[in-house]
Amino acid sequence: MVHSVTLCACLSLLTVLSCHSRVLPRLSFPKGSPGRSLNVFKNPDVYNTTTLLLSSDEGTLFIGARDAVLSIDVSQSDAMTMKEKLDWSPSEKDLADCAMKGKMKMDCHNFVRVLQVLNSTHMYACGTFAFSPRCIYINSKTLSMATGPSGKPEEGRSRCPYDPYQRNTAITVDGELYTGTVADYRGTRPVISRHLSEGSHVDVKLDDTLGWLEDPTFIRSTYVPSEEKVYFFFSETGREYDFIDKLTVSRIAQVCTSDVGGQRTLQKRWTTFAKAQLLCQAGQELPYNILQDIVTLSPPEGSSEDETLFYGIFTSQWQVNLGRSAVCAFSLKDIKKVFTGHYKVLNRDTLKWSTRVQEQIASPGECGLHNASDNTLRFVKDNFLADKSVQPVTQGLTLVSPDKSYSNIAAQRVRGARGRDYTLLYLLTESGFLHKAVLLKNGAHIIEEIQVFDQPQAVKNLLLSVSKGAVMIGSSEGVISVPMSNCSYYWSCAECVLARDPFCGWDPVMKLCTDIHTHDHLVQDVDGGNVSAQCTYVTPRSRSAQSRTLSGEVVSVSLNEVVHLQCPGASHLAKRHWERLNSQLSPKIYIQSDDGGLSFVATPSTLGPYLCQSEENGYTQTLGIYHVKQKSSPTVPPATRNRPHSTPSTEAGIKTSIFTTRLITPTPTEPRTEPDAEVDPTDSPEDSPAASTHSRSFTPSLGTEKQDSRKTELGETHPLTDKPSYFQELVVVSVLLALCISALLTIAFHRFGHFCHSRTVPQTPSSRRDAEKGGSATPQERESLRGHSSRLEKRNGQAPNGQSHAGQAHNGTSPIMPSNSMLNSSNGHLPNTPI
Ligand SMILES: *[C@@H]1O[C@H](CO)[C@@H](O)[C@H](O)[C@H]1NC(C)=O
Ligand SMILES: *[C@@H]1O[C@H](CO)[C@@H](O)[C@H](O)[C@H]1NC(C)=O
Ligand SMILES: *[C@@H]1O[C@H](CO)[C@@H](O)[C@H](O)[C@H]1NC(C)=O
Ligand SMILES: *[C@@H]1O[C@H](CO)[C@@H](O)[C@H](O)[C@H]1NC(C)=O
Ligand SMILES: *[C@@H]1O[C@H](CO)[C@@H](O)[C@H](O)[C@H]1NC(C)=O
Repeated sequence: MVHSVTLCACLSLLTVLSCHSRVLPRLSFPKGSPGRSLNVFKNPDVYNTTTLLLSSDEGTLFIGARDAVLSIDVSQSDAMTMKEKLDWSPSEKDLADCAMKGKMKMDCHNFVRVLQVLNSTHMYACGTFAFSPRCIYINSKTLSMATGPSGKPEEGRSRCPYDPYQRNTAITVDGELYTGTVADYRGTRPVISRHLSEGSHVDVKLDDTLGWLEDPTFIRSTYVPSEEKVYFFFSETGREYDFIDKLTVSRIAQVCTSDVGGQRTLQKRWTTFAKAQLLCQAGQELPYNILQDIVTLSPPEGSSEDETLFYGIFTSQWQVNLGRSAVCAFSLKDIKKVFTGHYKVLNRDTLKWSTRVQEQIASPGECGLHNASDNTLRFVKDNFLADKSVQPVTQGLTLVSPDKSYSNIAAQRVRGARGRDYTLLYLLTESGFLHKAVLLKNGAHIIEEIQVFDQPQAVKNLLLSVSKGAVMIGSSEGVISVPMSNCSYYWSCAECVLARDPFCGWDPVMKLCTDIHTHDHLVQDVDGGNVSAQCTYVTPRSRSAQSRTLSGEVVSVSLNEVVHLQCPGASHLAKRHWERLNSQLSPKIYIQSDDGGLSFVATPSTLGPYLCQSEENGYTQTLGIYHVKQKSSPTVPPATRNRPHSTPSTEAGIKTSIFTTRLITPTPTEPRTEPDAEVDPTDSPEDSPAASTHSRSFTPSLGTEKQDSRKTELGETHPLTDKPSYFQELVVVSVLLALCISALLTIAFHRFGHFCHSRTVPQTPSSRRDAEKGGSATPQERESLRGHSSRLEKRNGQAPNGQSHAGQAHNGTSPIMPSNSMLNSSNGHLPNTPI
C-alpha cells in the first residue's frame, strides 16, 4: 500500500510535465470571479449581437444584430447603455419567400453582417435579409435609415452572404466598400469585389477565371495605406497540391485601391489580384493550415510600414493537432517579398499548376496595370498564385493553445515601465475563455484567462477599445466588455512582478500594484519576472500582511484522522511544496495532491507545524502555516509531538481501519451524507460557521469559491476551528482508491508518453498509423507543405518520384507502408526528394 501511494505521487508529478511548449495561463478567473468583473450588455429584444463597430472616438459601440442595428454608449468603463436602436426586419412577404425556399424560420431573419463607417456622418450596413441580402445607409448620430445616391435600399448581392452561417469580410476605404463573400444563394460563387465607387473609379470584381478562388472561407480584410492595397485573408482548397483530396490552405490575397480594371481584357475586373499561401508551421511538424482569425498590428511609431505584423490563429486539418490551435505572425515585408517574387502558372488543359517557365511579361500583383496591353493582362490572368509561401516571422509558432482551440484574436502594443514596448494578444477560446498573453523573447506568457461565456458561442467578434482600456466581445448572447487589466488584484510586490502584466507596476510608496500610466517610477519586470531583483522595498503594509499569514492556523485533529491541508495560491505556474520544521516529508506518510494539498494520517508523529511554500520563477514564498494539534487533549506534551515516530504506527492504523477523516478545505462543505458515516459526538454544531471563516482565509482564488480569500489574508486571521466530517473506514477506501488511481495513472502516463512521442517524432510508423485514423498527411503532403513546391511540379510532370507512386498503386498496398519504410531508410529524409 505504501508503495502504491509512492507510485501514485510519482505519477501525478510526472503527468504535470508537459511534452510541448504549450503555455498555461498563470491565473484563471471563472465567470463571476470578483477579481475580473465583466460588463454585460443584454437586451431581451435584441438577438445575435455579433457584428461590432467602434466609433472613432471609441465612445460609441455600433452593433449589427438580428433585425436591428444598435448604438451603445461605452464611454463609461463600467457600464454599457443603449442609445439608439434601428429596426431593420424583412417584411412578411420576404419571410414567406424565405420559408418557401425551405429555410429554417430562425435563419429567415435579417442578420447584419456588414457594418462599416462610410464618412463622417454615415455608416453602411448589409444584412442577410431572409436569404435575400440588402444594404442600407445609416445616419450614425440618429441611427435612422438614410437614402443613398440611388434613393432606395440597395441589393446586397456580393456584399453580404445569403446564409447567416457563411463567413464574409468587408472594409471601407475612402467611401468605397471592399468585400469578400459569396454572390449567390447556394453559396458556390465566391467573389472579391469593390462597391460604391464613383465616376471613372468604377466598381470592380473578380473575373470568373478558373482558380482565382477555390471554395474560400473569408476571414478578414485590411487596408495598408503605404501600399495602397487591400489585403484579404481566407482559407480555401489548395489545388496546387493536387494529389491530396482536399487540402485546405490559408491565403492572403491583394488588390490595389487604384485598380479600375483593364480596357478590353479584364474590363471592370481586378488587374491586380494576386494570392499567396500563409504557412503556419513549426519545423518538421504538420502545419496548422486553417485560418480562423487574423489581426493587423501596426508598427511602433517611427518604424517603417514594412514592420506591420499580422497575427493569425490557425487550426489543423490533421488529427494530431485536433482541438489545438497555433498563433503565427507574418510581416508585411515578407508578404511583399512573396508577391514581388515568382508566380505559378495554371495549365488550363491539364488544370495543373507549375512554376512559370515562359518569359515574364509583367509583374503580377503590381498596381497601375489598368492601362496595360491585352497581352500583359492575359499574362496577369494566368499568373496570380505566388510561387513561394509567406513564412511566419521567427520561422515558427508564436504560441500554441494549451488545450482549447482559439477562434478570435486581437493584438495591441503596450508601453510598459521604462518605455519598453510589449505585444499583447487577446485570444478567445472556443469554450468561452479570454486569454491575455504577452509575447516575450523566450516565448509567450499567458498572464490570465477570464471566462466570458457559460456556453460556447458559434459566432463571435473581438474588438479592442484602447482608449477605454476594454476588450469587447460580441456574441449571440450579448456584448461583454472586460477591462484589459485589474492591477489591484495583485496584493503584494511579488505578485505584481510575477504577473508580468505590462499594464501593472508596483508603487513602492503607495504600496500597491497599480496601472502603469499613473506614475513613472513603478516596479515592473515583464521580461524576467524577477521578484528578488525588483521587490527590495520591505513595506510596512506587506510586512504586516506577511506576519499575519505567517502566524499560522491551528488545526485540531483526533488521532488516526486523515488530515487534508490546502495550500492557498492562485498561480498555475507556481510549484507548491510542503515542509515541516526540521524534517523532510516522507512520501510514505504524506500524499501531496496536484492542487497543492497535503494529506496524511494524524498520529503523534505527524502532529506539529506545516509550511506550504510556493516557488515561482525562482522566488519562494510561504503561503501558509498550519499547526496540527490533537483535539481537546492538553495532555499531549510538546515533547511527545516533536519526538520522531516511525511509520509502522501509521500502517498499523490503516490495518485496524478505525480512522475517521477531516477535510481542511477552503470552502464551507456540508458533512458528507453517506448513510453509514459515523458521526463523531464531539462534532458540535458551533464548529461549522467558524470553519467556513477559517478556511476561506487560506486559499486565494483558485476557483470561484475561493476568490475573496486574498482580502482576508490581508485582514485579520480567524481563530481556527473547522468542520469535521467522519467516515467509517474511509482510509481503507482511500488507499484502495489510491491503488486504482495509480493504476489508471500508469496507463495514462504511458499513453501520454506515447502521445508526446507521436507529436514530436511524426515519422515513426506506429504514430503515423495512429494519426491516420483521423486523416493524416502522406509524405508527399508533408513535403509539399514545407513549401518545396518545385519538387511538386516534377511530380506532376512524372519526375523520378512519380514512378514510386505508380509502383505503390500497382502493389495494391496502402501507400503509407512503403513510404514509411522509405522514411526510415532515408533517415528521416522524405522519399520524394529528387536525386
Ligand atoms: C479588481 O480586483 C479587486 C481585488 O480582487 C476587486 O475587488 C475588484 O472588484 C476588481 N476590479 C475589477 C474591475 O474587476
Ligand atoms: C442566433 O442566436 C442563437 C442563440 O441565441 C443561435 O442559436 C443562432 O445560431 C444564432 N444565429 C446566427 C446566424 O448566428
Ligand atoms: C456621407 O454619405 C452619405 C451617403 O452617400 C451622403 O448622403 C452624405 O452627404 C455624406 N456625408 C458627407 C459629410 O460626405
Ligand atoms: C490610361 O490611358 C489613357 C489613354 O491611353 C489615358 O487617357 C488615361 O489617362 C490613362 N489612365 C491612367 C490612369 O494612366
Ligand atoms: C534575479 O535577480 C538577481 C539579482 O539581480 C539575480 O541574482 C538572479 O539570478 C535573478 N534571478 C533570475 C531567475 O533571473
